[in-house]
Amino acid sequence: MKKILCVVGTRPEAIKMAPVILALKSEPWAEVRVLATAQHRQMLDQVNQFFGIEPDIDLDIMRPNQALTTLTARLLLDLDDVLQSEKPDAVLVQGDTTTVMTVALACFYHRIPIGHVEAGLRTWDMQNPFPEEANRVIAGKLARWHFAPTEGSRQNLLKEGIADADIVVTGNTVIDALLMSAAKDLELPIDIEADKRLVLVTSHRRENFGEPFRNICKALRTLAKNNSDIQFLYPVHPNPNVKDVAHEFLAELPNVILCEPLDYAPFIAVMKRAYLILTDSGGVQEEAPALGKPVLVLRDETERPEAVEQGVVKLVGSNCERIIEEAQRLLDDESAYKVMARGVSPYGDGHASERIVQILREYFDAI
Ligand code: UD1
Ligand code: UDP
Repeated sequence: MKKILCVVGTRPEAIKMAPVILALKSEPWAEVRVLATAQHRQMLDQVNQFFGIEPDIDLDIMRPNQALTTLTARLLLDLDDVLQSEKPDAVLVQGDTTTVMTVALACFYHRIPIGHVEAGLRTWDMQNPFPEEANRVIAGKLARWHFAPTEGSRQNLLKEGIADADIVVTGNTVIDALLMSAAKDLELPIDIEADKRLVLVTSHRRENFGEPFRNICKALRTLAKNNSDIQFLYPVHPNPNVKDVAHEFLAELPNVILCEPLDYAPFIAVMKRAYLILTDSGGVQEEAPALGKPVLVLRDETERPEAVEQGVVKLVGSNCERIIEEAQRLLDDESAYKVMARGVSPYGDGHASERIVQILREYFDAI
């Protein structure tokens, strides 16, 4: 048996790692161990519960509004103990969070091979997204296996000098998770009047904190005031830098519902019900095209250009006027809307985790 330690820290990691964990668990050669750093607490737990995954080790690292340096330092110390006692044959991480970067570094020091799920996403700008671009570059430098979601991400890794033989284009496991979940009976968590169109919003990126995020909220307020026949739903990220500002600008508007982060299944249900999605989330940029929902991205850059190139996702940044103009156009102009409301899935076919497991199986068979 080979011991594979799968690490999850935040909500998106748990969603995207779940199909890999479940696929590995049915492999006779693999002893699967799940480590939750719990960089997120409530948001992580609800995803693991949804997929029936119970972490074997939980570092419970989250503290309210914790600084990135403190988070990094505490994680590295705790990971040292875990890797010494677990002695895994391989470790899998997903994405570009602080959890991913610290686990990659700790594994490097312990000489344990790392598999990086969702490898090779790049904007080539260290400040955007911050600190994720640095996290994924560091993880990429240290990884043994690079599971790239698209051909574009493979090309990015080749540009950085990663050996072709160490990269596999697998698709993104987010689509595996979406298909597993969309097959279930998904109930809307909130009453939306049947005749009303729904605009779904999420926003949490650190490079938007401060003035850019205030501009985003101002734009949402104007859009809500100008479109009283449209319902806006915004599940607010619990980071205080987001939560306080969102409530300051949007709490009093009759057609805006601010709620706690939604559990994964209800969130998919509202994505399906939405007419239009405004977001700075990476995962939502991948899921929404597969559901045929137009997305306006509240960022200046994206490491997910594929859906933009296909014309179903558009970057609008954090400029107040631009957000209002682009959203209003899609609300008013049905032909412009239809062009963006095409179901395409550039990020995967739902079989990414099978491909990842196969690579690991072949590796361990050969040694
Ligand atoms: C993190 C990731 C980001 C990812 C996002 C997904 C880093 C640096 N950032 O950002 O890449 O896109 O997760 O959501 O790794 N909090 C809670 N409960 C929770 C989760 C968070 O209260 O379940 C609050 C806490 O005050 C916490 C703060 O949010 O300190 C920030 O959490 P953190 O993980 O540091 O960063 P995110 O902004 O969530
Ligand atoms: N999501 C969720 N509940 C919400 C908002 C998002 O379950 O209220 C899911 C969404 O379907 C996607 C993931 O969380 O799979 C994206 O996570 P997030 O936006 O926090 O992080 P990012 O993808 O930007 O790293």
